[in-house]
Amino acid sequence: MKHTTLRDLDVSRIGLGTMGMSFGYTGAGTDDAESVRTVHRALDLGVTFLDTAEIYGPYVNEELVGRALKGRRDQVVVATKFGMISHAGGRPGNLDSSPANIRTAVEGSLERLGTDHIDLYYQHRVDPHTSIEDAVGALAELVAEGKIRHIGLSEAGPDTIRRAHAVHPVTAVQSEYSLWTRDVEERVLPVLRELGIGFVPYSPLGHGFLTGTIRSPEQFDDTDWRKNNPRFTGENFQRNLALADKVQAIAAEVGATPAQVALAWLLAKGEHIAPIPGTKRVARVEENVAADVIELTADQIDKLNNLPPAAGEHHDEEQMQMIER
Ligand SMILES: NC(=O)c1ccc[n+]([C@@H]2O[C@H](COP(=O)([O-])OP(=O)(O)OC[C@H]3O[C@@H](n4cnc5c(N)ncnc54)[C@H](OP(=O)(O)O)[C@@H]3O)[C@@H](O)[C@H]2O)c1
Repeated sequence: MKHTTLRDLDVSRIGLGTMGMSFGYTGAGTDDAESVRTVHRALDLGVTFLDTAEIYGPYVNEELVGRALKGRRDQVVVATKFGMISHAGGRPGNLDSSPANIRTAVEGSLERLGTDHIDLYYQHRVDPHTSIEDAVGALAELVAEGKIRHIGLSEAGPDTIRRAHAVHPVTAVQSEYSLWTRDVEERVLPVLRELGIGFVPYSPLGHGFLTGTIRSPEQFDDTDWRKNNPRFTGENFQRNLALADKVQAIAAEVGATPAQVALAWLLAKGEHIAPIPGTKRVARVEENVAADVIELTADQIDKLNNLPPAAGEHHDEEQMQMIER
């Protein structure tokens, strides 16, 4: 497995997102034993970068990661996120990056993860009621105390990134980026390159859609996050199938799976980029990690760059309000 740096933090080029093991796409239920095996298999294959968050569950995903890492904590960079649960309550949308809430959140995450430090601690969404300077100031104190090692932001806009970075170096920004979600290319990625900040694409497989294995909305359980997502519903879903088919055709040409091609395209976008595909299955983590060795030709990259845009926004209206703020 190749490695890269997010600023000064060394990570495997391909990480593992653990959200779906407990949250969002759990469908008929969870299988913690297979999830733990998946984390172990990822580590055995050289993955050193795990991604979770306080809100996943809530809480149970961090607990699962903590259990999976017993005895192996030193082998990985553990990234988690705060700010979508207001522990004292009373915040609109539950967004809370107040210094007091960050202090409460970090103690809970440390305990659930069974560790004395978090390697990369992200603000999950920008909080319109706390200045980014105050939030990053609180995080800088946690760095000084050794509770966290690096600071990250998720779905932050360019001005917020600059202001945050002026208070304390930001190691990584994590936002949605994949063949069908290209928003960050215009305003966010140039700022990250300029400031030397790493980038972590989340949902790099388009929440599974780009893999070609999702062919009908009927595949989703009522609790599935995708059930109400604009791209996965109604006419948009049907139109987007053509996009998945195009990825499949290019994958056939490459001699790889669509998931691998979606990841290889992201890896070709720049050096300091480390996607975190999510899966709760051993076989799929093996498939995804193998994307590390795929080299796309200029012609294949060109074809992928020129795929038609997805039908529908990548989040519902309420969630879109929280993006690139
Ligand atoms: N910062 C944020 O706001 C934010 C938001 C969303 C996600 N994230 C992070 O990003 C990580 C990844 O994003 P994501 O899980 O939303 O989406 P994703 O990685 O694009 O896709 C995950 C989905 O694809 C399926 N899948 C994975 N590998 C596959 C393969 N090789 N073939 C077919 N299907 C495959 C998974 O199903 P199985 O599990 O059944 O294999 C799951 O349903 C999350 O785990 C989380 O840590 C962050």
